[in-house]
Amino acid sequence: MIGTGYVGLTTGVGFASLGNQVACVDIDAGKIARLDRGEVPFYEPGLQEALKQVQERGRLLFTTDLKSVISDAEIVMIAVGTPPKSTGEADLTALFAVADQVGQLLDHEAVIAVKSTVPVGTNRRVLARVRESMFAAGRDELTSLIHIVSIPEFLREGSAFEDFLKPDRIVIGSDDQVAAQTVERLHKNIVAPRVMTTLESAELIKYAANAFLATKISFINEIANLADRVGADVRHVAEGIGHDHRIGPHFLKAGVGYGGSCFPKDVSALEQISGAHGYSFKLLSAVIEVNNRQREIFFKRMMEELGGVKGRRVAVWGLAFKAHTDDIRESAGIEIAQRLHAAGADLVVYDPQAMDNAKQVLSDHVEFAPTAVDAATGADVLVVLTEWPEFREVSFSTLKESMLEPRIFDGRNHLADLNLENHGFQYRGVGLGSYASA
Ligand code: UGA
Repeated sequence: MIGTGYVGLTTGVGFASLGNQVACVDIDAGKIARLDRGEVPFYEPGLQEALKQVQERGRLLFTTDLKSVISDAEIVMIAVGTPPKSTGEADLTALFAVADQVGQLLDHEAVIAVKSTVPVGTNRRVLARVRESMFAAGRDELTSLIHIVSIPEFLREGSAFEDFLKPDRIVIGSDDQVAAQTVERLHKNIVAPRVMTTLESAELIKYAANAFLATKISFINEIANLADRVGADVRHVAEGIGHDHRIGPHFLKAGVGYGGSCFPKDVSALEQISGAHGYSFKLLSAVIEVNNRQREIFFKRMMEELGGVKGRRVAVWGLAFKAHTDDIRESAGIEIAQRLHAAGADLVVYDPQAMDNAKQVLSDHVEFAPTAVDAATGADVLVVLTEWPEFREVSFSTLKESMLEPRIFDGRNHLADLNLENHGFQYRGVGLGSYASA
């Protein structure tokens, strides 16, 4: 397994826990040393324990030296990052560098399995590069024994290990049936439908899945904006439509929009892929626009209601892009905190897991509080931006007493059912009908 990010590591530990022998390789020596000591370098529930178990059973090893482990590999799986360039296009530099290196080192029949999310057509390019570098290394007789399989991942951060063990489906794309079966056998104890398909279809499935989920979120956010104007409650609308099994109840939570390392990147990449093939994917452009506008609308409303925040004490609860992770990439919490700070707020923030990461990006003038209630103490307003369960468990009477003004803007509707208005708070959510025009 090449690449030990949250996908590579979770998948590596997962395959080892299914009884396979796995070597995880990364160029980051510090990370490999930590992993070797059994330390997971990011917060992912259940992963630490699972790692310990497979290490104890001797099924998983960590190394920076691909050469030392590749000769035993039946399958070389690649899970390196494909971050977005400024154009939205996926940056494939790391992936191709790995392909070149694998080609230089491979000296036997093997399957290359690509987990990284890549534009349609990339797997073929990876195979071509592996074969070219084998050719350059004088092993051209082996090139026909190397096959490629696309095996996209559908892991959610925060429940990645569980998603590995209980996926909704396993997608395996290849031109070569034997290679596809080899990869399928890796999953032998996992009960889930198998979608056996071509390389291009597997690559497109990954983007289509994320783009569809992002579309659901932008759709419900548009309904939320309308609900606010007409005096409806988007939570009830979501429930009302979600019972229709053709629609389903998931990914219909309105709020400040989607973030994270996947949806923003993959939706933009798919839009970019479409454009590159001469197709204007109108729906996707709107999904992106709605998502960006969602943060804007929330921020603007807050500013209007508060009459600005200059010199006022503002508390933010939640910096991670969603609950159960310490990941702050494309996080609404971070962006809104930065905007509040730029607007002159005296800002204090709290997140149960993401504070260390947030300290790297937020200004030194932002205060980091040790608890949620500490953050809100003395604040004019509290802004909720991640749906951490612990935010619902604070004593709201203590909170009310400790705030200067008992005022909450909730960008996730996370506290919407707690009837905080009855407890003397001024409460604003997203799409709860609070901005109805006459
Ligand atoms: C997402 C997909 O759910 C995974 O299937 C996929 O494997 C992964 O991307 C990836 O491509 O690697 P993830 O980014 O971990 O997983 O997070 P999600 O749980 O999907 O949430 C994404 C964002 O949407 C979060 O900011 C979340 O707060 C937001 N969201 C989610 C909503 O605003 N409303 C909802 O109803 C659901």
